[in-house]
Amino acid sequence: DSARTVAIIMDGNGRWAERQGLSVAEGHRAGTNALRRTVEAAIDLGVETLVVYAFSTENWSRPAGEVDSLMDIFGETIEREQPDLARQGVRTRFIGRRDRAPADLQEQMAGLEEETAHNERLNLWIAFDYGGRAELVEAARRLVEAGVDPAEIDENMLRANLYAPELPDPDLLIRTSGELRVSNFLLWQLAYSELVFLDRLWP
Ligand code: IPE
Ligand code: IPE
Ligand code: MG
Repeated sequence: DSARTVAIIMDGNGRWAERQGLSVAEGHRAGTNALRRTVEAAIDLGVETLVVYAFSTENWSRPAGEVDSLMDIFGETIEREQPDLARQGVRTRFIGRRDRAPADLQEQMAGLEEETAHNERLNLWIAFDYGGRAELVEAARRLVEAGVDPAEIDENMLRANLYAPELPDPDLLIRTSGELRVSNFLLWQLAYSELVFLDRLWP
């Protein structure tokens, strides 16, 4: 049976760069090219939904220079890839917080979502400023704010208050770089996913 929904923790850019004698920013840049190849492969394989971890809530605590270059690289990547994503039928959306990204990047993210909103070939979700715990805390807050009777809260109601209720649970989670953990990715959605850990570095 093929996996319709695939999640990927794109890890190992830093180690890859170090091994090549390159800067960490070059590692992240190479990582965006690997994502491009992965999106093309997902289309070829008939994957319906691809969800990738690009930046976690914890990644803000990396050195300021690395965070700054990551924000620049995200912006450059959206600019570079938007025409092909639109043309190839990739509907691209983001999950996670929006409010902490630089204002121009927030605009680019909204622009990419808008331009690809009618595409149907592949659903690409990019987890940015995403944390599974933050997502669950926010869902709880929304239920309280809505004044829901505690006795009525069930799994369906909680799911409906996640960032993207329409994101299917992944059939398969792949993490590169050899680390054997989920690092706060899709904690609710991964409950029954198959987990595959690869020793290859993401780039
Ligand atoms: C993953 O690569 C990319 C992000 C977390 C943004 P890393 O930067 O974590 O690479 P390693 O784990 O240090 O090799
Ligand atoms: C997970 O990788 C986050 C992303 C790939 C964006 P990290 O490298 O940040 O996770 P830890 O620090 O190894 O848990
Ligand atoms: Mg890492």
